[in-house]
Amino acid sequence: MLQWRSIQEGFGSVSMANKPLTASVRERLLRSARKAMKHAYAPYSNFRVGAAILTSKGQIYLGCNVENASYGMTNCAERTAIFAAVADLGPEIEVVAVAVTNDHGVPCSPCGACRQVIYEFGPEASVWFQAAEGWKQSHIRELLPEGFRLK
Ligand code: THU
Repeated sequence: MLQWRSIQEGFGSVSMANKPLTASVRERLLRSARKAMKHAYAPYSNFRVGAAILTSKGQIYLGCNVENASYGMTNCAERTAIFAAVADLGPEIEVVAVAVTNDHGVPCSPCGACRQVIYEFGPEASVWFQAAEGWKQSHIRELLPEGFRLK
């Protein structure tokens, strides 16, 4: 886990939920995602993906895709990052932002499964990804209308 001191200092003890993300926060998240991408295990697709998530308390967690010879067992970068945060901090986290990068520099928005997992822990999350028209920010509920909830 990266403790992001400048973010925490910037916001003090106030929650980061519903705060606009500055360009510098965005840049740091993207840098973190690129760092995680280097750890990807993608021998089958040769498509390395990195993700960085920001929690409401200013913590950053990283994830990469981890593939498997049994292709369906593959874990995407976004889910890896969220699961790492839950494993370290517990399930009370709130994801406020997600950044996704790939080593081909091509459009890559989170897959449907990852959208549902982002929604579970970040129903207000901003998602940064490369779209056909360039880098794009979307609200998770724009990416996943009517996401599933049990309660
Ligand atoms: N992948 C991700 O990790 N995140 C995405 O947003 C899209 C796809 C991975 C899964 C697989 O390892 C590879 O990219 C090709 O689909």
